[in-house]
Amino acid sequence: MPTTNAQWTPDSWRACPIRQVPAYPDQSKLEAMEAKIGRYPPLVFAGEARRLKAQLALAAEGKAFVLQGGDCAESFSEFTANAFRDTFRVLLQMAVVLTFGASLPVVKMGRMAGQFAKPRSSDNETQGGVTLPSYRGDIVNGPEFTAEARIPDPQRMEFGYFQSASTLNLLRAFASGGYADLHEVHRWNLEFVERSPLAERYRDLAGRIDETLNFMAACGMTSATTRDMRETDFYISHEALLLPYEQALTRIDSTTGEWYGCSAHFLWIGDRTRQLEGAHVEFLRGVKNPLGMKVGPTQEPDDLLRILDVLNPENEPGRITLISRMGADKVEARLPPLVRAVEKAGRKVVWLCDPMHGNTISTGNKLKTRNFDAILAEVRGFFDVHAAEGSWAGGVHVEMTGQDVTECTGGAHKLTEANLTERYETFCDPRLNAEQSLELAFLVARELKERRVPVSPMAVAAQ
Ligand code: PEP
Ligand code: CO
Repeated sequence: MPTTNAQWTPDSWRACPIRQVPAYPDQSKLEAMEAKIGRYPPLVFAGEARRLKAQLALAAEGKAFVLQGGDCAESFSEFTANAFRDTFRVLLQMAVVLTFGASLPVVKMGRMAGQFAKPRSSDNETQGGVTLPSYRGDIVNGPEFTAEARIPDPQRMEFGYFQSASTLNLLRAFASGGYADLHEVHRWNLEFVERSPLAERYRDLAGRIDETLNFMAACGMTSATTRDMRETDFYISHEALLLPYEQALTRIDSTTGEWYGCSAHFLWIGDRTRQLEGAHVEFLRGVKNPLGMKVGPTQEPDDLLRILDVLNPENEPGRITLISRMGADKVEARLPPLVRAVEKAGRKVVWLCDPMHGNTISTGNKLKTRNFDAILAEVRGFFDVHAAEGSWAGGVHVEMTGQDVTECTGGAHKLTEANLTERYETFCDPRLNAEQSLELAFLVARELKERRVPVSPMAVAAQ
């Protein structure tokens, strides 16, 4: 069992019970690939992960808001610049609106550049009387329903590594090379508002941002003069599910002598692999990255506190982000006991709302979907719980894409179940499309603004 006293090593997880393990047919090929990736350069630098942790520490104190979003599962076949650019763009657009709504910095993390491995509720999938191993994400096996594609192949880890490196390279270029210019991002938002059937609802907020930018320009602050207006910090994150891959990218930071998971800045534990004694908790307790953990309706408060003791014995702010994914109908019953327990124990965490994973339903035509209203209802429930408990609702975690897909129902364009087959492109769970993502951001921003405690300029100056 992982305890803070037992010796941690990058492979100490191997002695713990583990769930969601692919059945690789040839262990020697797996080991050879682990050794090979173990020699490749890290994808992120420890200093960046520390910087993110410091920003998340602000969110733990109510001084920042977090936006985490991207595909449920990235895929090797969608490996194009346009796909990354569009998702990145929508995340930036959402972040600008949320920054304005919260009047706080927004920490931006993509479920990108490594979000490949998927936990499954069943080891097998049956179609037309044929049963095959489930698809576990492109880094493990292929999505096609053939016996050959479904065999876990260690070679896929190498492709996953290179795709992550390439994606991250482009994201870094976008973030600092001019694409993230605040004026441009705002212009895209104005275009969105004018296109939306609900333009009236969003125009007011967009107009205020416009006024603010004009005022700042008049004061001499434009993207030409101010670096923060033309560049942004953008971090990558994924579920640290495939531990052989994660271990292979675990490195000692030469500046501090500490271990970091170098496959991404932020790594999270999924709702299915968060057992106190389990391999995933054991692995992640030893790396110094900021960590996430999904908490679903089965999470018990006592167990949560024990896991926090193991993952964050020093109670370091920014280290732990708890990602609540209860479902719209459960959030008001299941979340308060957890928030209360964490607050009472004085545990410093960031609370995020994942309004996607507790709201997945199956339609008549067997496609999985999520309804926009249920998603919004869970976010509102999450805000209500934190308002009642006196804690800070620190951000949102969404499955979304910059593409015009038809995977979630509802939204201003009123997508119905009948529309789903038009552009249902996800490799795993249904994502918000670009317009639905922006709508969500506008609606969340409005909530943030309405719930904001007015702070007088004098109080700010005195801080
Ligand atoms: C996910 O984020 O894609 C996921 C599988 O979530 P959870 O662990 O919350 O079910
Ligand atoms: Co998902």
